[in-house]
Amino acid sequence: MSIDKIYADKWQSSSKFFFDNGYYSQMAEIVKPYKTVLEIGCGVGYSTLSLIKDGHKVIVVEKNHNCVQMTKNLLREKGHETEVNILEGDIVDESFRNSLISNQEVDAVICWNPGTQLDVDSLLHYVPFMLEYGLTSEQIKENPASSYTEMMLWYACKMAKTMGAPIHIIDRCGKVDENTVDYYQTLGTEVGFSHFQIGTMEAETISDGGVPLQSQGVLMNVHRMPVIFVSVLFE
Ligand SMILES: C[S@@+](CC[C@H](N)C(=O)[O-])C[C@H]1O[C@@H](n2cnc3c(N)ncnc32)[C@H](O)[C@@H]1O
Repeated sequence: MSIDKIYADKWQSSSKFFFDNGYYSQMAEIVKPYKTVLEIGCGVGYSTLSLIKDGHKVIVVEKNHNCVQMTKNLLREKGHETEVNILEGDIVDESFRNSLISNQEVDAVICWNPGTQLDVDSLLHYVPFMLEYGLTSEQIKENPASSYTEMMLWYACKMAKTMGAPIHIIDRCGKVDENTVDYYQTLGTEVGFSHFQIGTMEAETISDGGVPLQSQGVLMNVHRMPVIFVSVLFE
């Protein structure tokens, strides 16, 4: 099984849990004023479904082909397939970003729960972009996953700014402290946003790296862990 398929299957359980618990609709409160949204990384489509149910017109970009297929299947099953424009591509790729900037008019960009599955080949592919963002080789070696996420968010913010749109980020954290606030404040300022709004939401997650336990189709609670969602809006 490909690494992208494994990732999509794992995210399926986590994001269904978020959807069933109403977390996506809580995340979406702050973007209510923005009708047309560009969602970067839809995962398997539960976040997209929530945005559609809230009345948004949604354009999705997603680089994982399995996630694109699972999103299409979910939206078809729920009767919303034709309401979404799903574009398969990687926002780290400059030509893809430029085509979005030239061809899409949006009121806001959304990037919720950023991240990806990295194997050796994909890590090697992204290292030059992480270095361009400003990380050192040591930082990348020490934490490739968070290096990827920081780099991806930087490109997402730069793209939103060029599109003249605000960006809403939701990330999962163990705790929110001064360093968290400093990190986002620096990111927004560096990219050129002048307003910054940060909030938190306490929640639970089942994405603890293990296979979630199910019994007769019912998810058992043993893998539940507390999580803090950090919500950041740059305007
Ligand atoms: C953890 S999932 C979150 C999905 C969704 N936003 C949610 O909250 O349920 C992150 C998604 O972003 C996608 N992604 C990561 N990097 C990306 C990139 N550079 N361009 C497009 N999609 C990306 C991944 O493939 C994955 O499906």
